[in-house]
Amino acid sequence: MSIETIFETMDYGTAPEDSTIALKWIADHGGISGPYINGKWGPFREDLLVCNPATGEKLAGMTISSANEVATAVAAARKAQPLWEASGGPARARVLYAISRLMQKHSRLLSVMESLDNGKPIRESRDIDIPLAIRHFYHHAGHAQLMPTALSDRVALGVCGQIIPWNFPLLMLAWKIAPALAMGNTVVLKPAEYTPMTAMLFADICTQAGVPPGVVNIITGDGNTGEALVASEVDKIAFTGSTAVGRKIQNATATSGKSLTLELGGKSPYIVFDDADIDSAIEGLVDAIWFNQGQVCCAGSRLLVHEAIADDFYRRLKARMDKLIIGDPLDKSIDVGAIVDPIQLVQIQNLIAANNAGEIYHANTPVPEGCFYPPTLITGLHAADTLMQEEIFGPVLVSTTFRTKNEAIEIANNTKYGLAATVWTENINLALDVAPKLAAGVVWVNATNLFDAATGFGGVRESGFGREGGWEGLQAYSKVTTPIKCPATIAAFTGNGAITELVDRTAKLYIGGKQARPDSGYSQAVYGPKGQLLGHAPIASRKDIRNAVQSQLASSWGKSSGHLRAQILYYIAENLAAQTEGFAARLDTMTGTTSGKSEVEAAIDILFTYAAWADKFEGRAKSVPIQGVALAMREPVGRIAALCPDATPLLGLVTPMAAALSTGNTVTLFASQPYPLAATDFYHILEASDVPAGTVNILTGGQANLASHLGAHMDIDSVWCLSGKAITKAVKAKASSNIKRVWAGAAPEDHLSWLDAGTEIKTIWIPYGE
Ligand code: NAI
Repeated sequence: MSIETIFETMDYGTAPEDSTIALKWIADHGGISGPYINGKWGPFREDLLVCNPATGEKLAGMTISSANEVATAVAAARKAQPLWEASGGPARARVLYAISRLMQKHSRLLSVMESLDNGKPIRESRDIDIPLAIRHFYHHAGHAQLMPTALSDRVALGVCGQIIPWNFPLLMLAWKIAPALAMGNTVVLKPAEYTPMTAMLFADICTQAGVPPGVVNIITGDGNTGEALVASEVDKIAFTGSTAVGRKIQNATATSGKSLTLELGGKSPYIVFDDADIDSAIEGLVDAIWFNQGQVCCAGSRLLVHEAIADDFYRRLKARMDKLIIGDPLDKSIDVGAIVDPIQLVQIQNLIAANNAGEIYHANTPVPEGCFYPPTLITGLHAADTLMQEEIFGPVLVSTTFRTKNEAIEIANNTKYGLAATVWTENINLALDVAPKLAAGVVWVNATNLFDAATGFGGVRESGFGREGGWEGLQAYSKVTTPIKCPATIAAFTGNGAITELVDRTAKLYIGGKQARPDSGYSQAVYGPKGQLLGHAPIASRKDIRNAVQSQLASSWGKSSGHLRAQILYYIAENLAAQTEGFAARLDTMTGTTSGKSEVEAAIDILFTYAAWADKFEGRAKSVPIQGVALAMREPVGRIAALCPDATPLLGLVTPMAAALSTGNTVTLFASQPYPLAATDFYHILEASDVPAGTVNILTGGQANLASHLGAHMDIDSVWCLSGKAITKAVKAKASSNIKRVWAGAAPEDHLSWLDAGTEIKTIWIPYGE
């Protein structure tokens, strides 16, 4: 037999991993996964069964923690938090380091437990999930150590409630717990009901590592337990899971003042250009969509392939699919394991059964009985077909073709999600041109599913907000030492009936670079402190918001360079400076104070400041353990609406405008309600300053009436609520419509927080080398 024939005919033997020790660990712990609160286990009840998806056999029982048990865990975390934070970064670093070492020591047990519980191939849990989880604790031990010096202006948030899914149980736990502990928070974490077992092992490791009681609490349970945690007295909720549940949580926390980060679903494009290294791109697809049976939020589940190579690509891809081995997750020679639960399997089957578009190809490979689904490819779909839009969360790749670069970008971005994207091309110019244009929090060039603790992971659009990993991930678990107080609203002056002007002075709105009458046709009188009529300001309505946002959509500001943005901000400052006297007098007349001049000067200064930042608020090149680089690029959040504070009617308008413009966003500003006339004067400055149409819009009228429309608007990416609690609540109550970012502002001198609010980190991974 020739070597070639041997290679062609060679079969893999089985290489099963022994599960005895993991099963014994479960038996030794009473066969139940239950809460770990204040350093102690229990109560243990068998409310639910945890099964091995590959065999359907019971692995353990599980306690569904009640709302009271959740409250007990939160109280324990609350009690432990001050001491944990006060112990200091270096002391916390030692504990995190001890956790990492113990995880390393028990890594095989953790891997076997993960595969037993989740059904993922042991190759993946052993080589990817567990090493990455360990790396997360090592990396964040470093962040804890450095916090007193590198983040001296930040403190812990307090108690963090964390809810994780079943697809990467220990890894998601690590992504949540490591940064939280590093920054001095304590946590109550709820693992998913299908996969609580490695969280149990982790709790055991916490005891061994000397984590003080109450610092890490684990509560097992289902969605009801999750809901109870969301409703409990925590300071923050961090959630990873489905967009539907994320939306519910955003609604549930809307009026609570809790911090929130959401890492939700995706339908990530995998773009293959005609000059790609096709064999590598196909191998990449195996990792993109058949890794963890496709149950990956950032799975490259939407293949976009250049039309010129599509037939050849599909032929080779099918051949590769046929070689994938599906089987026992504990067998080291398999590629694809079990689907996490029969419910998830039925969901995948139903989605495929309901589809009658395209052509379905199931891999020609044996599929074991039970909770398994074959690697599947659906070709010939249209960008709008259901399966091109909806997350399947299984080993199903959907595909379409494209002809040009622009078409590829358009199809890639034609989704409500924005988690990840992959680009394959041998042309570095093309890759680096396309990557920034993709609506995604993470982009991989000629690679896929690369993760590291030093890089941020998270989405845009309905894939959520917040980043996990790296310096940017620490933002979500800390706050500035002196947070701002929510400003009070101010009642407008009322009139004394005297008519002071014969000529009607009714200001207009400023929309799309033009003065515009309000759609409502109404305006309101603006009076001075002595009741004198100062003029009329238009009352903006929902339609005016729509027009303003439409003009933001058309603005090219997001594509402009920092250099250009700086010049225009300087120009606005210069033009405002030339009108200092007029604005100062206007402010004094409206507010009845004498601080007008200093307010104008402060506004000029803030314009100069954000002009200065426009080309200096940079990203980073991350040091990651691959041959390559991960770039953390700062991108504008997009279309911002800012509800400006009542006091300081000019400075309160100019500050959000300057910060938003500096970072490449467009903005619709809602002027101070009692003193709107400085804002309506200000559009003359904008008109004289070369600000492109639609980049800044100014609306006046009652903010309270418009807040919920802003919250609900599908094309606004972020609302900056700078004018009081009631308005913030009204915005937040509707913000889950498109998983909108809602930000309550920062002190005017805290420029970095403003710039952060205007940007989102996109991580672009670029491996290199021959
Ligand atoms: P899910 O989003 O319902 O569950 C994730 C976590 O949230 C679990 O710990 C669950 O107990 C908890 N949870 C459920 N309802 C809750 C509520 N109302 N309040 C608070 N916590 C709650 O995900 P599920 O049901 O396990 O899977 C359904 C679909 O979600 C999947 O088919 C997949 O499409 C998607 N999914 C997405 C994930 C991602 O990483 N983006 C992860 C898991 C699922």
